[in-house]
Amino acid sequence: MAINIILLGPPGSGKGTQARRLIEERGLVQLSTGDMLREARSSETEMGKRVAEVMDRGQLVTDEIVIGLIREKLGQGGNGFIFDGFPRTLAQADALQALMAETDQQIAAVIEMRVDDAALVSRISGRFTCGNCGEVYHDQTKPTKEPSKCDVCGSTDLRRRADDNEDSLKTRLMEYYKKTSPLIGYYYVKGNLHTVDGLAEIDEVAAAVAKVLDRLPA
Ligand code: AP5
Repeated sequence: MAINIILLGPPGSGKGTQARRLIEERGLVQLSTGDMLREARSSETEMGKRVAEVMDRGQLVTDEIVIGLIREKLGQGGNGFIFDGFPRTLAQADALQALMAETDQQIAAVIEMRVDDAALVSRISGRFTCGNCGEVYHDQTKPTKEPSKCDVCGSTDLRRRADDNEDSLKTRLMEYYKKTSPLIGYYYVKGNLHTVDGLAEIDEVAAAVAKVLDRLPA
């Protein structure tokens, strides 16, 4: 049976890093609304321009746009989905529940990645990503083995995100605490919330996530 999971946590908590591990190890399909919106902003459309302005300020894009993007992708399942950065508001959580019910699926686990703000700032300020394969790096904690060359695909197209700056990060954190953190209570009440220590090393976090998934009822 397909397992659908949500990775929930503030910017820089390691959602993308762990999602990539789960794709490789469990064949799950990653649905990152951040990635989808970055693709949308790269188009020269009016919608792309509006999305770029909102993202660069660190605010949330409208529920309507984001829910529309997820709805489009839900038909393309494999062994299940990893929702990375979605839902981020109560309205998005309700919409996801309705979309899952429509397709006779459910969310097996919501994994909250808990990391304190000081660590988030240093993670975001050191992050860079391979523009070709999406592998995520960090200047200190996960540098490339060879200078300026992706370990996974060999590309030299290594990028820093436009919203990874101090001002935008402050807004992203405020948006998280105001609009997204209420989802912790929302999923706790539903009984499928699992919290992992996101401050641990990447492999340790992956092991904690694996433990949650391995204990889910078959
Ligand atoms: P999005 O792209 O989703 O960004 P985010 O939530 O801010 O999360 P990040 O991608 O910054 O961090 P992450 O948790 O994936 O951490 P990562 O693994 O990279 O959203 C961007 C914007 O799009 C939003 O601000 C909003 O405008 C819009 N948006 C997206 N979804 C939306 C929605 N649903 N509704 C409305 N608007 C939406 O790790 C970070 C760094 O830390 C890396 O360098 C990594 O190497 C390092 N690291 C990771 N784990 C560890 C570890 N355990 N120890 C040490 N270092 C680690």
